[in-house]
Amino acid sequence: MKDEPIMACAEENPDEKPKCNPFGTRFLTDDTKVFEHNAWDDVEWSPEQQEEAQRIVQGQKSMKVDEEKAMRLLSTPADQWDAFYAHNENRFFKDRNWLLKEFPELNVEDESNLQKEKIEILEVGCGVGNTTFPLLQVNNSSSRLMLHSCDYAPNAIRVLKSQDAYDPEKMNAFVWDITQPASQEAPNVGSLDYIVCIYVLSAIHPDNIKNALKNLVRLLKPGGSLLLKDYGRYDLTQLRFKKDRLIDGNLYCRGDGTLVYFFDMEELETLLAEHGLQKKVMHVDRRLIVNRAKQVKMYRQWIQGKFLKSC
Ligand SMILES: C[S@@+](CC[C@H](N)C(=O)[O-])C[C@H]1O[C@@H](n2cnc3c(N)ncnc32)[C@H](O)[C@@H]1O
Repeated sequence: MKDEPIMACAEENPDEKPKCNPFGTRFLTDDTKVFEHNAWDDVEWSPEQQEEAQRIVQGQKSMKVDEEKAMRLLSTPADQWDAFYAHNENRFFKDRNWLLKEFPELNVEDESNLQKEKIEILEVGCGVGNTTFPLLQVNNSSSRLMLHSCDYAPNAIRVLKSQDAYDPEKMNAFVWDITQPASQEAPNVGSLDYIVCIYVLSAIHPDNIKNALKNLVRLLKPGGSLLLKDYGRYDLTQLRFKKDRLIDGNLYCRGDGTLVYFFDMEELETLLAEHGLQKKVMHVDRRLIVNRAKQVKMYRQWIQGKFLKSC
């Protein structure tokens, strides 16, 4: 599995272009200049490109992973991630330092939080803390933050808790499979201001996502927000899968056995709405990343969104 490059910022209003971006927002208006920069934002796909993507995914259906292997991987998804962290420890993912640019409300000093006495955040599928620790760092001087982090891979939580920066006064890292009833260490029902899901819903079998959302929404305060970033349909990663990777629909297994699903934006929006989460902002970041030396173009698609639990 490969780490995700830094991404563009979520928009504040779905009808506008994203307002901020760690690279600076850059739009490709002249195709002849494509190799002049490393990345372009909000690149429109041509109908031909869309058809080509559909053709590739259709072709993958004739070389699906064999059924027995698929059943095995689907029955033990936590084991695959646990083995991943046992092997990689904290050497794989980079810190998500772009997080506060996309989700400024995760800074407890953000104006949206000024009225709140205490701010409780749960990071779901936290791995070894590549989102948790940047979040802690930016809020380190605040006594108003309680940061919960969970993952179903015990090795991930072991590594996270062994970091020098782990502060049990402000942090609560625990093992929880979010598709199952909440663990005892989970935050109280209705206590959370924010739930952060970074590339985690895509790691869950589509049949189990509903349980996960039901469990998570219970923990949110009325008016609390779920913030997410995840893989979009026809992202380069999906189109690059070759033989023995497609399980079904838009669900794949990587070489290490971990699962990954590629969301259609409307599908995800409907799923969240069915669980009482209203869209505040949602955007597909269609980014073109360019390898100038090799003159290669890579089309990425990420979904970013903010959703409110109704009061
Ligand atoms: C692609 S990694 C992302 C890790 C981290 N959010 C980041 O951005 O660096 C997906 C993570 O979700 C966790 N995960 C997947 N399904 C889960 C579930 N049902 N409950 C809890 N954690 C889960 C995996 O163990 C893994 O750590």
